[in-house]
Amino acid sequence: MRLLLAFVLALFAAVAQSADRAHDEHSAAEPATVRISAMALDLRVDFAARTLAGEVVHTLAWADPAAAGPAELVLDTRDLAIERVQARKGDGRWQRVEFSLAERDPIFGSTLRIALPSRMDAVRIRYRTSPEASGLQWMTPAMTAGGKQPLLFSQSQAIHARSWVPLQDTPGVRFTYTARIRTAAGLMALMSADNDPAARADGDYRFTMAQPIPSYLLAIAVGDFRFKAISERAGVWAEAPVLDRAAAEFSDTEKMIAATETLYGPYRWERYDLLILPASFPFGGMENPRLSFITPTVITGDKSLVSLIAHELAHSWSGNLVTNASWKDMWLNEGFTSYVENRIVEAVYGREQADMEDVVSQGGLRAELASLPPAQQVLALPPSPGRDPDEALTDVAYIKGQWFLSFLEGRFGREAFDPFLRKWFDEHAFKSVTTDDFLAFLRRELIAKNPGKLTEAELAAWIAGPGLPETAVAATSPRLAAVDAAREDWLKRRVAVAELDTSKWITQEWVHFLEGLPEDIAAERLLELDGAFRFTGTTNGEIAQRWYPITVRAGYFEARPALAQFLRKVGRRKLILPSYVALAETPDGLAFATQVLQQASAGYHPITRGAVQAVLDAAAK
Ligand code: BES
Ligand code: ZN
Repeated sequence: MRLLLAFVLALFAAVAQSADRAHDEHSAAEPATVRISAMALDLRVDFAARTLAGEVVHTLAWADPAAAGPAELVLDTRDLAIERVQARKGDGRWQRVEFSLAERDPIFGSTLRIALPSRMDAVRIRYRTSPEASGLQWMTPAMTAGGKQPLLFSQSQAIHARSWVPLQDTPGVRFTYTARIRTAAGLMALMSADNDPAARADGDYRFTMAQPIPSYLLAIAVGDFRFKAISERAGVWAEAPVLDRAAAEFSDTEKMIAATETLYGPYRWERYDLLILPASFPFGGMENPRLSFITPTVITGDKSLVSLIAHELAHSWSGNLVTNASWKDMWLNEGFTSYVENRIVEAVYGREQADMEDVVSQGGLRAELASLPPAQQVLALPPSPGRDPDEALTDVAYIKGQWFLSFLEGRFGREAFDPFLRKWFDEHAFKSVTTDDFLAFLRRELIAKNPGKLTEAELAAWIAGPGLPETAVAATSPRLAAVDAAREDWLKRRVAVAELDTSKWITQEWVHFLEGLPEDIAAERLLELDGAFRFTGTTNGEIAQRWYPITVRAGYFEARPALAQFLRKVGRRKLILPSYVALAETPDGLAFATQVLQQASAGYHPITRGAVQAVLDAAAK
């Protein structure tokens, strides 16, 4: 125990001393020398060729603009065809400059080096994307809800913006942008910018993002999107067949914005709209500024999964306003956001709902910790340049991060903690931050002002220690305790399935029920459950995520056709990977999974395809 503490304190000291925590291992850019301060995009969307083609003009801010002699601009790219590079000083003439594209690295792509005769003020790059761009998903009409028009969307986080724009692809650099996007008339283009709810779909669009954002928040979507207002400043974009259902499900969005403003100060991005994408969207949501991208798998009809909207909205403070400087400090984005998300849920839906969500997510974190190497269980992660950030996504940044802030809230009380967090957002607005920055702010603004409440050792255990610190207080929920009791009664055959009083259960209760089933449950018992509750074929993604792996492990083959359909339709990684993992555990399951992937692959996002393939490859070895 003592040894562990000494080890954690040593690790903690190492975190605190690394002046370089702001360094981003996942970008070749050299922001200490030069930064992109503004970007002007002019792109044509070609659905037939599956490319974006055109040019980008980067305005450059040099650390030492007066320095004489030649200079170099280093940008990140992946699978881009660079056709021409020019540069200019002031409003002078564009002149062609030399460039070289390095060999492609599977994780980072190809570094673009532009040779400049001097510290020029702007560069103009003519380029086109590859049909396989990792940050874009091109969908045929058949893959959409409407079925008539094609659809395109981007997913830039963490390091995929470089696959559709050559840029400094690091969260440590912020820029404003403008864009002109041309596509076929009848298709609407939207960006993480000033979308106009009344825009006509004439195929020619202009955008401005006046607040500086990091590259991972650059976003575009093109499709047959319609708009429906929720409030004066909030609304939903979606394909016509989902528009009304989505607007009804997310009708509390304005209440959420207002609740967050009360806690943490004004919403600084003007409009807040949601874009509902097809089910192949690889995430639950993505906090693209002014326009969160959202999976349709949370539309359940009872608002039980709208915490996703609270989450993406919360990023407007934690992440988009105050941004992790590199992905190893991702907990500063996701942990803070998960904390704020739960505060929003509490403010809008009450403590009971917020507690249920905490119990479920804390259970998920505990399960994940059991299989993660200790080095990945810490909030402040060590640099891991060789690692694909897409594969480093765990509940540690999200839920352990959230838990840490809840712990601080408990120690210092909301009277002190709420204004503290608001001040963190205010003082670091539009800046990139590290764990060290937060620790310094915490010591100055909370610990020093409330002496005796928190020791350095307790703090170290949260930031640099593996697992869960002793000071972690678990959430509890009477409603979920009742679910535990009901499950036990049924498992012990004290009550029949028909006697379970589940009429008022919502998603979290069903999820909790399923997560507590024993691993070796027999197929005939699943048949009982399925007969009563019809899990197989559910359109609720969270329930499907838990149910299908159980059916696979129990050999409940009746669920296979619906499972195949679920895996073909849904691309959200978190929802489908557990089923692939379960299938890959047996040769028969692996064969089934391989066949399903073959059919599903064309409809999957590149990120999802890669993740599923990795699971199957590992099993086939
Ligand atoms: N920013 C993330 C999504 C993300 C993270 C994309 C890392 C790429 C790399 C987003 O805000 C998020 O956390 N989405 C979650 C939703 C949630 C926890 C409610 C998701 O997609 O599951
Ligand atoms: Zn998030």
